[in-house]
Amino acid sequence: MPRPLQATIHLEAMHHNLGRARACAPASKIWAVVKANAYGHGLERGMRGFVQADGLALIETENALRLRELGWVKPILLLEGIFDASDIALLAEHNINSTVHCLEQIKMLEYTSLYRPIDVHLKMNTGMNRLGVKPEDFRAAYARLRAIPGIRNITLMTHFANADELEHPRLSIGEQVRRFREGAEGLPGERSLSNSGGVLHQAELVKELQNDWVRPGIMLYGGTPGGRSAKDYGLLPTMTLRSEIIGIQQLRAGDTVGYGSRFEASGPMTVGVVACGYADGYPRHAGHGTPVLVDGVRTTLIGRVSMDMMTVDLTPVANARVGSKVTLWGDGLPIDEVAQAAGTIGYELMCALAPRVRVSEGRLGCD
Ligand SMILES: Cc1ncc(COP(=O)(O)O)c(C=O)c1O
Repeated sequence: MPRPLQATIHLEAMHHNLGRARACAPASKIWAVVKANAYGHGLERGMRGFVQADGLALIETENALRLRELGWVKPILLLEGIFDASDIALLAEHNINSTVHCLEQIKMLEYTSLYRPIDVHLKMNTGMNRLGVKPEDFRAAYARLRAIPGIRNITLMTHFANADELEHPRLSIGEQVRRFREGAEGLPGERSLSNSGGVLHQAELVKELQNDWVRPGIMLYGGTPGGRSAKDYGLLPTMTLRSEIIGIQQLRAGDTVGYGSRFEASGPMTVGVVACGYADGYPRHAGHGTPVLVDGVRTTLIGRVSMDMMTVDLTPVANARVGSKVTLWGDGLPIDEVAQAAGTIGYELMCALAPRVRVSEGRLGCD
């Protein structure tokens, strides 16, 4: 028998969440973001889950090529663009769109002759200060790109730093949109601004925000970038991590649990040992109080997460036994809630799922 830990991917929930993104931004085409192995769900499953998307966006050229091998014929976008001039030939050969975020990339394109035209996304840095050309340099960058014979369509893009919080005191979406508009004013081309936060807040965003393409990631996987809960937004979990109780310990007052003896029982209690640890991607820093479900009953983690196991309080679970089903996150236990209790974000939990965890596909509501 294999170890009981297993992640189940809910493809129907991925379809549903893509539908939610469409409903939020009905006039926009959607780049479904499938970077980081489709946020831990598997690239091929990302492709099947988002088969209705208008394009798929990711980071690595080799994964873009993999999508083509898997039969994806619609557009593909490299969100960080090329890392080396030798990648340019692949863009042309496999019809892959590239982000262009710096002058070095423009130079690489200027020095390479393209035997077939390519489409690019020119990225403006509107305050996040990660990737992108400053608003005041944007026009010149655009002109240089436009002068390259092999460049066909130039989409203008930016990325929001605080899309989960409409009125962030340091850098609001409104301010980033204002800088984008100013820097891109009058330039032809489609626009692409919103990530999940922007899509979820599309209705409240600056009315005339032009978003020919949106780029949702986390919302498609049933998580949120912050703010309200996934349920409030009508999103469904796409990954459920389940395991089982593999051991039970009866404690007396004063007994401690696990490495570091961090948890001490204040009275008699029952502790369940779950087959899941930090080597599976469960965060080691998740502390006492992080929620888990045992036989569908909500209880909490106690003690330190170890490499292959973790311990839970079985006090509220009357009939718990070795073999009881445990849900770590997903169906019945929102990943954002687990993440928040563990001091991280749902993105990290999904992406960190370790290769040793068995992954299968199944419908929500079925064990
Ligand atoms: C350029 C770009 N667009 C879109 C996304 C998707 O973001 P989210 O998962 O918050 O929707 C990302 C992810 O970081 C990104 O880097």
